[in-house]
Amino acid sequence: MLARKNHYNVAVVGATGAVGREMVEVLEERKFPAGDLRLFASQRSAGESMAFRGEDLPVQLFTKEVFRGIDIALFSAGAEISREYAPIAVQAGAVVIDNSSAFRMIPEVPLVVPEVNRHALRHHQGIIANPNCSTIQMVVVLKPLHDQFRIKRVVVTTFQSVSGTGKEAMDELLEETEALLSFQEVSPKVYPVQIAFNCLPHIDDFLQNGYSKEEMKLVNETQKIMEDPTIRVTATTVRVPVYVGHSESVNIETEKKLSANGARSILSTAPGVQLYDDPQRKIYPTPLEVAGKDEVYVGRIREDESIPNGLNLWIVADNLRKGAALNAVQIAEELIKG
Ligand code: A2P
Repeated sequence: MLARKNHYNVAVVGATGAVGREMVEVLEERKFPAGDLRLFASQRSAGESMAFRGEDLPVQLFTKEVFRGIDIALFSAGAEISREYAPIAVQAGAVVIDNSSAFRMIPEVPLVVPEVNRHALRHHQGIIANPNCSTIQMVVVLKPLHDQFRIKRVVVTTFQSVSGTGKEAMDELLEETEALLSFQEVSPKVYPVQIAFNCLPHIDDFLQNGYSKEEMKLVNETQKIMEDPTIRVTATTVRVPVYVGHSESVNIETEKKLSANGARSILSTAPGVQLYDDPQRKIYPTPLEVAGKDEVYVGRIREDESIPNGLNLWIVADNLRKGAALNAVQIAEELIKG
């Protein structure tokens, strides 16, 4: 899918952000065969440096001229930047892996979670979309169940960490927490209301139908990635005062009866999934434990006793890694396999 070479020149656009930093780390950790790694950000961070394989690489000012000689461009600087510059990168000969929502629902753009639909990469036309973080972790767990028992309906509630909003939101949670613990007033800037010691049922903008954009991403992206528009999905997305790691309470209704043990057995060998399910021994995933891990963790698996074919699951993953940077680098790895 990319001409075979020993090394590929890689650009990270938005390298200083919460996801961008993780992309650089994941490229190093997984020994991605990067020749030149070029890091780009706005005026605010240009001139800083970031460590990569024992070297300090400069963070450069991002302009539309930076793509010459780049094979793979990882974008994580927001949808507006992607919309404007991803086509320019493609014109310059790069393949773009875009972490924003800009292109995800365009039919010709593959929306890929390698464990689920790596085959969709085959027909890319230069831009590949990295799905929404909450969607990625959910479909990694649901796909193997769907393959055998056919999921008809999904009811999901998310508990999403502030790193999903970006580094300014992480700073805001710290500043508010410090202020409140010293009996000072807080003045939220990133979120509409205080996030410290609170939960906000509000992620991204609200739409006419009463859902938020984040909730509709879970609906639409799940159907696209699972390649099944008949799966009914309804979502409530909630921001919680956690730094890293998204959690999800997921209820599924299947066509055929799937027992809790049956689900455990399938998930114990599913790619990218870590079964962590023994509540009697206090074994269930939490974002604090899962932060920094590559796998999607699943626990609290139990039958939904209110309907014949229902199951409840608790799914947790590191939103910066599997929910963003790791998934993007895994896509790059697939591309260079040819
Ligand atoms: P900067 O550090 O210069 O602000 P996050 O999602 O964590 O907030 O990070 C957003 C990333 O996108 C940061 O690396 C940020 O760089 C980068 N960014 C924001 N605006 C631009 C821009 N106009 N051009 C290039 N990078 C940008």
